[in-house]
Amino acid sequence: MEDIKDKWALVTGASRGIGLRVARALGDKGCRVILHSRKLEGTKHILDELTLKGVKAYSIAAELDSIEQVELLIKEVGNLTNDNLDILYNNAAIMTPYRETFEPTFEDYLSSFLVNSIVPAKLCDAFIPGMLQRDWGRIVNVTSGIENEPQLMAYSCSKAAIDRYVRDMVPTLKGTNVLLNLMDPGWLRTDLGGESAPNSPDSVLPGALVPVLLNKVEGSGKLYQAQNYS
Ligand SMILES: NC(=O)c1ccc[n+]([C@@H]2O[C@H](COP(=O)([O-])OP(=O)(O)OC[C@H]3O[C@@H](n4cnc5c(N)ncnc54)[C@H](OP(=O)(O)O)[C@@H]3O)[C@@H](O)[C@H]2O)c1
Repeated sequence: MEDIKDKWALVTGASRGIGLRVARALGDKGCRVILHSRKLEGTKHILDELTLKGVKAYSIAAELDSIEQVELLIKEVGNLTNDNLDILYNNAAIMTPYRETFEPTFEDYLSSFLVNSIVPAKLCDAFIPGMLQRDWGRIVNVTSGIENEPQLMAYSCSKAAIDRYVRDMVPTLKGTNVLLNLMDPGWLRTDLGGESAPNSPDSVLPGALVPVLLNKVEGSGKLYQAQNYS
């Protein structure tokens, strides 16, 4: 298991749900944690909690459906870390409305692909080259086990796209100590998962951290299912 003390980690969507648990767990491991959500107020509670524990934590706000704000986020992370981001936890996502089969709208596809696939891909594009130069990085893209729900087709297709990004990047990362993997949290009672989900949000740990703590030999391109570790 890798020692990640003092590593710089960015967690998107750290204000609540799964991202909040992941940010807290990375702080407990001694990382310097950059907390992202739409508004600075969203992460204030976890920023205060981590700072009180002696963790070096920072908040950045960005709407991930705005290309301009994503570009600013990338710049801010670069400035804060002196271009040394070590861990990218691509967690933030939106769920599309539940609609009749064949009824998802253009807007459902556009918004979910932008936030759930294009932005995580661009964050990978922005930070993986620096990780490769330093030969250390851990990137986790949060996916979903959703299947056979055509009513949520736009959401599930957007997750499939990010799965494909991971798969097709494997040859580029082969033999390096930059590991890019997928994490499926299971169905959890978060704002996105809804009240009917069988699992508590806390059940995402310790599994959600497994792809961050991997040794180099474990490689890239695998799917880690958090519920297998709870
Ligand atoms: N919960 C489940 O059952 C489940 C199952 C499979 C996969 N997942 C995946 O797990 C990840 C986290 O889900 P969750 O259940 O923890 O969701 P959540 O509780 O709804 O939290 C979503 C997080 O993403 C941020 N976010 C959403 N849209 C954003 C946008 N347009 N711009 C910036 N930030 C945005 C939110 O920030 P604000 O607070 O600022 O809005 C929040 O921090 C997602 O990738 C999701 O697809 C969840």
